[in-house]
Amino acid sequence: MMMRLDRFLSESTDLTRSQAKQALRRGEVSVDGEPVRSGALHVDDEQDVLWLGEPIARIGFRYLMMHKPEGVECSLKPTHYPSVLSLIEIEQRERLHPVGRLDVETSGLLLISDDGQWTHRVTTPNRDCLKRYRATLAEPMDEKDAERVTARFKKGVTLEGEDKPTKPATFERLSEQDVLIGVTEGRYHQVRRMMTAVGHSIVSLHRESIGPLELDPDLEPGECRHLRPEEIAAF
Ligand code: URA
Repeated sequence: MMMRLDRFLSESTDLTRSQAKQALRRGEVSVDGEPVRSGALHVDDEQDVLWLGEPIARIGFRYLMMHKPEGVECSLKPTHYPSVLSLIEIEQRERLHPVGRLDVETSGLLLISDDGQWTHRVTTPNRDCLKRYRATLAEPMDEKDAERVTARFKKGVTLEGEDKPTKPATFERLSEQDVLIGVTEGRYHQVRRMMTAVGHSIVSLHRESIGPLELDPDLEPGECRHLRPEEIAAF
């Protein structure tokens, strides 16, 4: 896919279009090893684009990390709440999709991309990509109960209405009502239903990480940023 260099820079980094033009004028961008100062140059996905010496992601694809707030839907056709995509200020928003889903009431790390192959690599259960959640429970849990839940999660829990138990999951009690849960699948309401299956309910749920990627603490709820090349390559 061919694209103007200034547009490619603004879509693939945190630079706005005018900041991308300034970076070009300052000689910070190279294409195939040659410094390029004009944003009008067209580049394609065979070319090696560096900004400040760092490679930029695959041309034409966008990769974002969002701090999803509560009260927005991950569905592309939302029914009751605004879509997460309505929070993004970016050109060509319509090609983007959430990489996996979080419930309306769940906050935390959400990846967004328009690269279908990458999305598949992140979400396929075959790769056992661990997603870690921090949950607040409705009722306190003592240490003995936490040991019971840890053992049940390790073994796999059968969710209501399903035959196949969940894959082994991790559980850690942080305090009486705060716990950490790690799962490698993405079944419907999985974490809430797993807690229900062991006799507890969750009042708030927040995703802290997906595989090696942690939610950037600088992102306020509703904000997002582009992933860095090494973050994209981590999957
Ligand atoms: N599990 C849930 O129950 N909800 C989420 O949003 C994510 C995982």
